[in-house]
Amino acid sequence: MNIQWYPGHMTKARRAMQEDMKLIDLVIELVDARVPFSSRNPDIDQLGKGKARLILLNKSDMADDRRSEAWMTWFQARGFHVVKVNSRTGAGLKQINAAVQEACREKIERDRRRGILNRPVRAMVVGIPNVGKSTFINSFAGKACAKTGNKPGVTKGNQWIRLSKTLELLDTPGILWPRFEDQQVGLRLAFIGSINDEILQKEELAAELIRFLTEAYPDALGARYGEAVKEAAGSSEEMSDHSAGIQGAYRVLEEIARARGCLTKGSGLDTTKAAAILLDDFRSGRLGRVTLEMPPDKGEEKCQEN
Ligand code: G4P
Repeated sequence: MNIQWYPGHMTKARRAMQEDMKLIDLVIELVDARVPFSSRNPDIDQLGKGKARLILLNKSDMADDRRSEAWMTWFQARGFHVVKVNSRTGAGLKQINAAVQEACREKIERDRRRGILNRPVRAMVVGIPNVGKSTFINSFAGKACAKTGNKPGVTKGNQWIRLSKTLELLDTPGILWPRFEDQQVGLRLAFIGSINDEILQKEELAAELIRFLTEAYPDALGARYGEAVKEAAGSSEEMSDHSAGIQGAYRVLEEIARARGCLTKGSGLDTTKAAAILLDDFRSGRLGRVTLEMPPDKGEEKCQEN
């Protein structure tokens, strides 16, 4: 399967972001905690050069906590400040202010030495589509505004959202584009639903997801779809070779179709429907908390699958 999807206006978006970078001290980069590698565009490191950096592992409610911890350590070792958040519920947002102060400590010290007191940190939120930028801005700004009384959080005609005495946010987030050169990256973004479904073959995608889950989270499918699926997944797990593994995955998909009563008109198994059910279950977190990739090993460019 060849996943190709290029959002338009990349050059324009890049230029706009370059301009906005001049206005800010801190880049708040949202990544999807289920795919912290695939949901980043490394261009941001170039664009944000010289700026303080804060990474938010968003949607951490859907990610595997143990793996999120590993990612936090990995990013921290590379000079990023990191906070795990759930922008939908607001979990983790309280830790952000302290992380911002820490990330911008140098700037704050520099201001102090020059006699500039209480100049707020100016920040911009960036991330690929669907990573949760608007949800984050709404819940973060909402909370901070509630704390500072009943002043409106967003001043119309103003480019900045004043969150507190110490932090201002550019009101429009910077949209980064996912990188598509790597098929594995495309696949993982498709699993989480960040790529337009219509251009993808659902069954093939489901088979790849089954293959990943049987290896990395061997109990997930059986727990959701029952004993027959568990057994089929168990025997496909042993297949180390990719194409045999995919064949095994199709058998698991058939069992899911059977378990869910997905039948075609001629009473055959409707695996297309089963694929849609599986993908929907996965994207809604009904298969449990899953992280699709681990930090790269030392010296390796690519991410680990397991
Ligand atoms: P964007 O601006 O970066 O494009 O993303 P947006 O905020 O629109 O969020 C995309 C989807 O991700 C939304 O779901 C949103 O609710 C969900 N989301 C954002 N942050 C979190 C989080 O921390 N945890 C979880 N579980 N979900 C999160 P949607 O289904 O597209 O919309 P809706 O049903 O919430 O309206």
